Amino acid sequence: MKFFADSADIDAIKELNDVGMIDGVTTNPSIIKKSGRDILEVTKEICDIVDGPVSAEVTAIDADTMIAEGRKLAKIADNIAVKVPLTWDGLKACKTLTDEGTMVNVTLCFSANQALLAAKAGATFISPFIGRLDDINLDGLELIEDIRTIYDNYGFETQILAASIRSVNHMKDCALVGADVATAPTSVIQAMAKHVLTDKGLDAFLADIKAAGIKIL
Ligand code: E4P
Repeated sequence: MKFFADSADIDAIKELNDVGMIDGVTTNPSIIKKSGRDILEVTKEICDIVDGPVSAEVTAIDADTMIAEGRKLAKIADNIAVKVPLTWDGLKACKTLTDEGTMVNVTLCFSANQALLAAKAGATFISPFIGRLDDINLDGLELIEDIRTIYDNYGFETQILAASIRSVNHMKDCALVGADVATAPTSVIQAMAKHVLTDKGLDAFLADIKAAGIKIL
């Protein structure tokens, strides 16, 4: 499974990229707002750090303007994936940009039928938001499973990019049901390394290293 960092925090992206933990980055207007940076500048900087797809979201809601914005975003770097919302206009923009050879990430997906339409429009990625479904007592993971089944039934190549991930358990669950990619806050990806027994075991080893005066360098 590929991991994308759901972030525009340059230091955090570099940290994960240097350890080979991320295969791409996703941003959205809220993430760009949080960064306090210009969207074109910060996106370019991220594209220079990460080799894989970097999603940058359009701001328009009509297809023609989304397409114009998408063309401008696509010029930032070869690894840009233009993010469009899962609306009828977003699907139109997806089809046009995909036909032009641009990667498209269709975002704000909350149903299997929406994911089916995105695949038919040629999306490179579909982004089902599992955390936001869980927030309203629906089952985000079930949506990932349904999309996996539908895409496999018909051989759609659109990649399932599990989004709105809130916890390390979401990461494990997405891996178990076959999401192609999970995009998560950098803190969640780093938290996957944590285990209380690892900490406890390390403390015991450190005590023995000190007691025995074990030295390597
Ligand atoms: C993904 O592309 C989205 O930017 C993101 O995962 C949304 O997450 P949120 O629901 O925590 O805002």
